[in-house]
Amino acid sequence: MVRVALIGCGGITAAHLAGYRVLSELGRVTVCCDVNEELARNRAGQVGEHSAEVVTDYRAALERDDVDAVDLCLPHHLHAEVAVAAAQAGKHVLVEKPIARNLAEADAMIAACDAAAVKLMVAHCQRFSAERQTAHRLVRDGAIGDVYLMRSDHNQFVNFPAGHWANDPAMLGGGAVAGSGVHHLDTLRWFCGDVRTVSAGYTRNGLTPRTAEDAGLVLFEHEGGSLSEATVVWTVQRFPWYEGFWIYGTAGVIHNVGGLHLFDGEPRQGEFRRVKCDHDDAGGFREEVRHFLECVRDGAEPRMNGHEGRAALELVLASQQSAARGEKVRLPLALG
Ligand SMILES: NC(=O)c1ccc[n+]([C@@H]2O[C@H](COP(=O)([O-])OP(=O)(O)OC[C@H]3O[C@@H](n4cnc5c(N)ncnc54)[C@H](O)[C@@H]3O)[C@@H](O)[C@H]2O)c1
Repeated sequence: MVRVALIGCGGITAAHLAGYRVLSELGRVTVCCDVNEELARNRAGQVGEHSAEVVTDYRAALERDDVDAVDLCLPHHLHAEVAVAAAQAGKHVLVEKPIARNLAEADAMIAACDAAAVKLMVAHCQRFSAERQTAHRLVRDGAIGDVYLMRSDHNQFVNFPAGHWANDPAMLGGGAVAGSGVHHLDTLRWFCGDVRTVSAGYTRNGLTPRTAEDAGLVLFEHEGGSLSEATVVWTVQRFPWYEGFWIYGTAGVIHNVGGLHLFDGEPRQGEFRRVKCDHDDAGGFREEVRHFLECVRDGAEPRMNGHEGRAALELVLASQQSAARGEKVRLPLALG
């Protein structure tokens, strides 16, 4: 039984808690921490059958003996500070995406967790979502041959109130691409392999108080020769929140428009057919929490560990550089 302190009790913790509630044989949230005590109390009332302590200072959570791990759902500028402190207190760390705002912060988190011999996992829920996990298994099994191109897109209206941390690029580490695009850039790397070059363009439209990009296009050339592309839009008015992908292989195609679909027939013959997903966790939050708790229990390395989270962040940073300079950026990025 892994005992978890939930640190930061804002919007995304509803999804994390829904996972913990059905995984009570593996772990439970014993402490809810937020500088806003009301939010912490609210989430403490949602942890399940048991009760959870409420604290407003994360250091108080880290001092507790009834905490084995932390689940950090904090503004991005706090990820590194609290993750490093948690590791130094001997707690395993699950941190929401992106791992941090820059590579120096990510490296400090990885080093602190390594030094303390605690697990570090980055909560890239899309790695655990039903459609993407099933599509990845199909690709791995050779269902569409060699992947030569992939598209992934994010369509949402994200409008934080004025003064919210997520409107400040210094706290968020950018705008739409750093905030939600990081999921898609990570997914493209997961399916198509390490990235050799990054080309990107960002745009703003003044529809929200945000001062960073509202939308961006990112194009990757992968080491293995395939191409991939992400379209990230945070100002899609009156559009249902939709995240789609198309994966093109030498022997077929997979997409998730209206459910997961596979075409693996002869060219120009037959139809796409609907594929049943390997599990029912559409958002991936429950399976993400399960994986973290099992890794802590078993002493196993998380699939989405600090190095994978750092690699996803590097793609965001490279896209920022490309968009700012108007040129293709080659990886790896230089530190500093
Ligand atoms: N996986 C996803 O799809 C997804 C979706 C949304 C957000 N997120 C991520 O989750 C994280 C949090 O985002 P959110 O939308 O829940 O933000 P939020 O603003 O709703 O919540 C952040 C919470 O942190 C609290 N906080 C701030 N400083 C604190 C401190 N020093 N100690 C304790 N609590 C503190 C705030 O009071 C707030 O309640 C971010 O990393 C974000 O990118 C992930």
